[in-house]
Amino acid sequence: MMDDYGANHYARNGKKIIMERAKGIYLIDTNGNVYIDAAAGFSSMNLGHNHPRINATGHALYTVDEDGWGIVNVVPNTFPTVAQALFLQHACSVLHADKGLLMNTGTEGVETAIKLMRKWGYTKKGITPNEALIIVCEGNFHGRSTTIIGFSSESLYREQFGPFDKGFVSIPFDDLTALENVLEKYGERIAGFLVEPIQGERGIRIPHDGYLHSCYEMCKKHNVLFVADEIQTGLGRTGKMLACEHEHVIPDIFILAKSLGAGRNAVSAVFSKNEYMLFEPGEHGSTYGGNASSMMLSLEVLKIIEEEELCNRSALLGYYLREKLRKGLLRGKTKKAIKDIRGRGLMIAIEPEEFLGAETVIHELLKEGVLTKSAHNVIRITPPLIISKKECAELSRRIVKTFTRLVNK
Ligand SMILES: Cc1ncc(COP(=O)(O)O)c(C=O)c1O
Repeated sequence: MMDDYGANHYARNGKKIIMERAKGIYLIDTNGNVYIDAAAGFSSMNLGHNHPRINATGHALYTVDEDGWGIVNVVPNTFPTVAQALFLQHACSVLHADKGLLMNTGTEGVETAIKLMRKWGYTKKGITPNEALIIVCEGNFHGRSTTIIGFSSESLYREQFGPFDKGFVSIPFDDLTALENVLEKYGERIAGFLVEPIQGERGIRIPHDGYLHSCYEMCKKHNVLFVADEIQTGLGRTGKMLACEHEHVIPDIFILAKSLGAGRNAVSAVFSKNEYMLFEPGEHGSTYGGNASSMMLSLEVLKIIEEEELCNRSALLGYYLREKLRKGLLRGKTKKAIKDIRGRGLMIAIEPEEFLGAETVIHELLKEGVLTKSAHNVIRITPPLIISKKECAELSRRIVKTFTRLVNK
């Protein structure tokens, strides 16, 4: 039916597996096969599938009293809801932000941040109208709108979709000299620097220690906003609420999405210090952004992350899983098949040598009951943060077994 009625914009898994049910870190397909979900919807399912507290919140959203009254959901945004206010107050305090703005998808969150950078650039920094530039990094992934793909370095994402916006300058990721040079060259015109703390879609590229901190300092020196896309790295994925916290940086603006919606609703949010949330009424908006159902779920997501100490858990189990993988893979015949194993928290990359290729491994992992995805010849291991130590050991065992089978073929 998907072949008949669906668009063809995703390369469907070759084995035509269709997932049907899920619990915690597990998925079951329509044939009854069970898989460990080591992708977690690219960080959308940090709390795992069907978390009891998320389900209870969801249930409450659809419950009405004996007279048929339930919670208010979408109303014109000039009438804020109780749920929205409660979420924003809690989120700002947990995330050390002054203000939050709610949208739906990650892409919209990034678009919102771009508008905020430009508005700040024109109204506060004094950039000549329509001359503002934003620095981005090669290998970025910030979404799929026409503005955003315009500064992507992936030709597949760009070709046939132009013309594009000219207000972006791209520099190599993890390169402080390149940043300094571009700040020196265009300083007066630059409104902001947009960066992923770890480039997830580019194959979990982790910059050198101190990179984010130095970038932040350089931005301050040149009166440029430091803006972090924490859509994939945020909400505990790397062992902290925000990946920037590893370097004691609070970005001027940062964007969250994915797990903020508990894997149920599309929710994104842009947070900032007071002085950067510069929209006036009518300058920005979204019909569904901040709807009450989403807000109740997102508030519960933040509480679960804190109360279940998922950041700590991600840090400790991420370390445990990486060490297990290193011990299991970096020896004997499999050692020759591995270029690198790296990660931060439960955002882990296994980079196989070209002769093996990530796609082959991903395919074989399915047979072993592990679902994950590759990116730029990297196998991404990003399970839900609720995974147990025992389950990490089992996941590692299956991965090592798969590599062993492949190298002995
Ligand atoms: C770092 C980053 N930014 C932005 C996006 C876009 O988010 P969405 O797919 O919700 O629009 C993604 C999605 O994978 C992402 O990983």
